[in-house]
Amino acid sequence: MFSISKQTDHIGAEISGIDLSQPFPPEAADALRQAFVDHSVLAIRDQKLDAPAFLNATRLFGEPLRQHLKQFNLPECPDVATISNQEKTKEGKINVRGVSWHTDHSFQPEPPKATALYAVSLPTKGGDTEWAHMGAAYDALPAPLRTEVDALEAVHAYTESRVPPNLTERIAAGEDDASDGVVHPLIRTHPENGRKSIYLNPLRVRRFRGMTPEHCAELIERIVAHATQPEFVYTHRWRAGDMVIWDNRCCIHKANADYDFEELRLLYRIIIQGDTPR
Ligand code: OGA
Ligand code: MN
Repeated sequence: MFSISKQTDHIGAEISGIDLSQPFPPEAADALRQAFVDHSVLAIRDQKLDAPAFLNATRLFGEPLRQHLKQFNLPECPDVATISNQEKTKEGKINVRGVSWHTDHSFQPEPPKATALYAVSLPTKGGDTEWAHMGAAYDALPAPLRTEVDALEAVHAYTESRVPPNLTERIAAGEDDASDGVVHPLIRTHPENGRKSIYLNPLRVRRFRGMTPEHCAELIERIVAHATQPEFVYTHRWRAGDMVIWDNRCCIHKANADYDFEELRLLYRIIIQGDTPR
């Protein structure tokens, strides 16, 4: 059987001694699923996967979903997309996605429960990915802040890159309704382990219902500052052959854009069906 090595007190485990391209016993599959629920981020080392094998490996954790930015889907295996530092905006500027704290696709009614990446090409140094555990962050909220956030509902909406980058301005520009977005509770309960966590996406939350834009922006900043303290964070230093899968229901994450962009950073990406946050 493979080994599981916990990486921090609250989040992240390294898995070694398993080959996801080969059949393995159902007990091993169950143990991997349990490790995913227990540690929220699994870094599975030393894999050799092409796109179909990666897709097949992620089926262990649920049902892969087609990703909405079709231009990144592999033509020969469209349920697998790429994320790379070679992406350009319409104006031709380099556009590296995922470099500030977020959880994936929270603007959807049923956001993906998990996202998986497989390293195809890595820079020689830097380009780590970081995750913060929103369950541990919730447990450690100061009591007055916990009372303030407990019953909040957040409007999440997809916004184009043209909107103001500054959080306060972006929030002020949005309406306080859910007509073109979805409403999720700010505090959600994990369907598999019953644990409460903060479900916040600083990139997509447009408003907490019934709150002024200024207060809303200030509260988002306060929660993110609290949740991303080093004690709640796992930083993954990528190695060739890594497959990483994480739980979007209880983590936020970001990519570090701290490496030489002349070097290719390319990963395969799969998202897994989730359910309605409650
Ligand atoms: C993502 C993402 C982070 C990275 O694929 O959703 O945020 O390190 N990726 O590329
Ligand atoms: Mn992401």
